[in-house]
Amino acid sequence: MLIRRASDIKPSEITPEHIYRSRRHFMRDSLAVAAGAGAGTSALALPGSWLEARDVKPGEPIGEQMTSESNATSYNNFYEFGTDKTDPAEYAHEMTVDPWTVEVSGEVEKPGRIGLEDMLAGIDLEERIYRLRCVEAWSMVIPWIGFPVKKLLDKFKPTADAKYVEFKTLHRPSEMRGQRSFFSSIDWPYLEGLRLDEANHPLAIFAVGMYGKLLPNQNGAPIRLVVPWKYGFKSIKSIVSIRLTRRQPRNTWNDLQPSEYGFYANVNPEVDHPRWSQASERRFPTTLLRPNRIPTRMFNGYDEVASLYSGMDLAEHY
Ligand code: MTE
Repeated sequence: MLIRRASDIKPSEITPEHIYRSRRHFMRDSLAVAAGAGAGTSALALPGSWLEARDVKPGEPIGEQMTSESNATSYNNFYEFGTDKTDPAEYAHEMTVDPWTVEVSGEVEKPGRIGLEDMLAGIDLEERIYRLRCVEAWSMVIPWIGFPVKKLLDKFKPTADAKYVEFKTLHRPSEMRGQRSFFSSIDWPYLEGLRLDEANHPLAIFAVGMYGKLLPNQNGAPIRLVVPWKYGFKSIKSIVSIRLTRRQPRNTWNDLQPSEYGFYANVNPEVDHPRWSQASERRFPTTLLRPNRIPTRMFNGYDEVASLYSGMDLAEHY
């Protein structure tokens, strides 16, 4: 298996072009899938040899510094567990993630429900180091483990009428205290959507791991979307349903505050949020004295997606 330490990765490789070229493929057998795993055993595990070889030093300077694993797993947005940044790390362990199935429905020739193990069988997992830019103007650089969204959608054969994809998070108030809260104004479950051509773009992935390990619950275990050229709220966590549609689906933040959060949500330094500028961002690690403010880049620096939006007014379609 071709695995390099994070310190061997050149800063330029954070750009996706280079990631394509140096894509580290993990063989199918790099996932130990314990069929019929007993109680208390995770049905899904990354092998010990993989973890040892990876030897990540979180926060190691690699040009654009990788965010430390402790930052990325303790400062989170996952409103199902509360609105404070520390709530997900504190309470997300209350969510059961094994077993897990995802239902794929709508405009597909072969609708169905698929278990996580079956989903990953035959799929090569890759590591992708991506910037994550939150609409709140903080950002991180995170090494995800996952696979292109298109690989899963194609298994269900989208019909010619499929134009959009709707994603839905688990709705289980008994295990998600934010969903039980009287103060929550969100109409659960959390919903997100993409145009089908956006979902099919090679940069859009489903992540099942980060920092060489399975995804922690607070980061959206066992499977979440990662769309690096869009604001973080598009990267929906703990997905249980995928529906292909003819019409543009709803998305939670747009439902809540349509003048502030759009459907497209492409990172764009020229279109400010009504209440703050989007021209710059605080890149982790940040402190009060050293906010580490850097300029925000169009499409979060992933210029190769620009052709998806040619002819569109991105101030109108924010
Ligand atoms: N998905 C669900 N289901 N619920 C959420 O509250 N928050 C979003 C997104 N996905 C959210 C979600 C927002 S606003 C961001 S910035 C990212 O998750 C944060 O991902 P992270 O906590 O892994 O950094």
